[in-house]
Amino acid sequence: MTIKIAVLPGDGIGPEIVNEAVKVLGVLNRSFGLNASWQEGTIGGVGYDVDGAPYSEATRKLVHASDAVLLGAVGGPKWEKLDKPLRPEAGLLRIREDLGLFANYRPTKVHSQLLDASTLKPEVIDGVDILVVRELVGGIYFGQPRGIETVDGERRGYNTMVYSESEIRRIGRTAFEAARLRSNRVCSVEKANVLDVSELWRNVIIELHESEYADVELSHMYVDNAAMQLIRNPRQFDVIVTGNLFGDILSDEASMLTGSIGMLPSASLGEKFGMYEPIHGSAPDIAGENKANPLATILSVAMMLRFSLDRNDLAEIVEKAVENTLDAGVRTVDLAFGGEASVSCSAMGDAVCAALEELAS
Ligand code: IPM
Ligand code: MG
Repeated sequence: MTIKIAVLPGDGIGPEIVNEAVKVLGVLNRSFGLNASWQEGTIGGVGYDVDGAPYSEATRKLVHASDAVLLGAVGGPKWEKLDKPLRPEAGLLRIREDLGLFANYRPTKVHSQLLDASTLKPEVIDGVDILVVRELVGGIYFGQPRGIETVDGERRGYNTMVYSESEIRRIGRTAFEAARLRSNRVCSVEKANVLDVSELWRNVIIELHESEYADVELSHMYVDNAAMQLIRNPRQFDVIVTGNLFGDILSDEASMLTGSIGMLPSASLGEKFGMYEPIHGSAPDIAGENKANPLATILSVAMMLRFSLDRNDLAEIVEKAVENTLDAGVRTVDLAFGGEASVSCSAMGDAVCAALEELAS
């Protein structure tokens, strides 16, 4: 049976990095017996330009007929002035919501070859291996009411941070299950000292822990403290579970432990669908220059193999090929430090493909 992958390169550096990930899929087909086919669709700004919407009906049909989605990045200055529902970011939020992708896995693993690439001290980050489990289709990103209105002659903007018990329970379950396969520790992050929604979050996580996951070590942290602890002593964390907004912020922060946001893949999973994308954005400033780091997207393919395609064996091979490429000293410009030479986006992709071929023989 052929596996069908919807490929949505999106904007900015999206097409460049996705192109390298697709090369990797090609090698997996040719040399490792993967039977994948893929079809491209639009998302984000290019979706608006080509198909009239940041998440068009054509793309919706494509992804619903696919086994998994590989996405690049969305956004750019060109579309910033559009009405909010037409902006690239709205397309990303809509596809997450439409596919019910409530659980966003954002692993931060420090690669020993890149210890010096981080702005943090090597002794602080050595051995860091954190999984941020971010709730992705609720919270303040989607809560109603929201808007900008004029009251007493001045404008007033508002959003609503809302979580129901069932939403908290399902993301909590995801985190506890993930922890059981790792170091068995979950840290739940919220702002329960101030926010009612966070107080409920904490109580539901405690109840869930007591009733079903008492074997997992659970701790709680306020988000401000968590932001500090992440750079003070990141090794204390195994799995972090948190809401949509806090997860967005903390996962960008956590990425800096690895030296470059260009290293971090993600998986967004629901009951049925899986979507895979780097956590970084579209980087319009370097788009089209063949300079971006494709490793986060290539590592997202590994997550796709693991979570959607039931090919953990191939996921490990892709991760090994990335390690071997880093071992060989191949660096894109974001990873090069202390006068190290750097290669282009496509050369990095080629290097990973060559490392894969070597593992095949
Ligand atoms: C991310 C991004 C998105 C988010 C934006 C582009 C809508 O920052 O995936 O982390 O806020 O979720
Ligand atoms: Mg973000």
